[in-house]
Amino acid sequence: MDPQWKQFYKLSYLKRAKMIENHAHLNSDEDGLISKNKNEVSQNLIENYLTNFSLPEGIAVNFLINGKDYLVPMVTEEPSVVAAASNGAKMLSQNNGISAEVINKLVDGEMIFKVSDKLGFENFIKDHKSEIIKIANQSHPSALKHGDGAQKICTRSISSNYLAVDMSLDAGESMGANTLNTMLEACSKFIAKKTDSQLLMAILTNYSAHALVKVVGKVSFDHLAKSKKAGKMVAQRIAEASEIAQLDIKRATTHNKGIMNGIDAVAMAFGNDFRALEAALHSFAANSEKYHGISTWEVQREFLVGKMTIPIPVGFVGGATSVLPLVEVNKKIAGIKNVKEEMKVIASVGLAQNLAALKALVSEGIQKGHMNLQLKSMALANGAKPKEVDQVVAELRKQSSVDARSAKKIIRMIRSGKRE
Ligand code: HMG
Repeated sequence: MDPQWKQFYKLSYLKRAKMIENHAHLNSDEDGLISKNKNEVSQNLIENYLTNFSLPEGIAVNFLINGKDYLVPMVTEEPSVVAAASNGAKMLSQNNGISAEVINKLVDGEMIFKVSDKLGFENFIKDHKSEIIKIANQSHPSALKHGDGAQKICTRSISSNYLAVDMSLDAGESMGANTLNTMLEACSKFIAKKTDSQLLMAILTNYSAHALVKVVGKVSFDHLAKSKKAGKMVAQRIAEASEIAQLDIKRATTHNKGIMNGIDAVAMAFGNDFRALEAALHSFAANSEKYHGISTWEVQREFLVGKMTIPIPVGFVGGATSVLPLVEVNKKIAGIKNVKEEMKVIASVGLAQNLAALKALVSEGIQKGHMNLQLKSMALANGAKPKEVDQVVAELRKQSSVDARSAKKIIRMIRSGKRE
């Protein structure tokens, strides 16, 4: 790499921006885009900051969760996600809505040691649990300020010579990642000093088995199709699709991706780490014999019933949630007051998103609804100006099949004043 990039991070914002401009031969419009979108808050959030990359935010409607109505902000670039969430929520709202329950809300971590005397090491941990908890709680000023602090110390064998010491933290309203990491580092140093072991690392785990939310919702047959008979068939086909997601890894992965379409979008709107949610869902989905769909749908009498227990490791305060300006506004729009309510809303969006996708897949197919909404983004991707989009979409709708070539052709015709 050219040595000019060495210690790039130490340069002023203006110098860095100038270097990028020269390196990439950016024109004045491109430069303008960068400077129009930059802001001082973000400059302090990440390293080598250039500008803000914004994503669209939409509001999903129709959510009835534990008897309360919610509007849900969603940040996503994907057409049809917000519409599908609203659609799924509408179906689920007709029969008392979604019931959501937070099973637990702890953040887990592990300290990994190379150990020669496993039994001696295990006994040391057993005998010093309260001392380790004390060290953990003293290591971070807010360890006991917002929640019950460190807990659940136990050992776990990883291989013949590696042992993990697991620890959990009740971080109250925050996600607790940084607090837990500080605690783990303090405790692991103490353990390594007092035992005949070698510390490899100490870090939280994104396998979030103690941040679980259970959501349940049902839809009567007549809300799945125009007639009860057709609705029953749709319900049975959704139940079959759910079964396939338990059996086939290819389908399970896409089934879960569909759920994450909604979950990531809400998590982003509330300023949470969506990578943690992705990692948590996929590892949780692989925690039994094989990777499987995280939700299940079955027919019970006149209803299609959906259930999902899912890890939702998020925080209501702290980290980016306290810095990104729109997060507070989004919480106000959603009307959520604490982390458990946030967890319930996020999980409920996952269930609604899943229902809408499955219904489309087993009835008219995904492309009809999705492509219909994708046409706007197709028009933009092929060069339409925002004011031309409606006209381009109207012309695209007349085509039997659409692709980039037809979109470009339509744009050219509109600009030259001709019609198809
Ligand atoms: P529709 O059948 O035309 O619905 O849905 P509708 O006209 O009966 O409307 C029902 C409700 O949906 C409306 O209620 C709206 O809330 C909402 P109303 O306001 O009438 O009382 N709705 C919309 N909201 C905003 N903008 C719109 C809009 N249209 C309806 N334009 C829809 C059309 C696209 C919603 C439906 O076909 C659908 O839900 N499709 C699923 C789309 C989807 O899942 N997209 C995600 C991307 S595909 C993917 O990545 C996931 C996947 O691979 C996952 C998997 O395989 O499991 C599929």
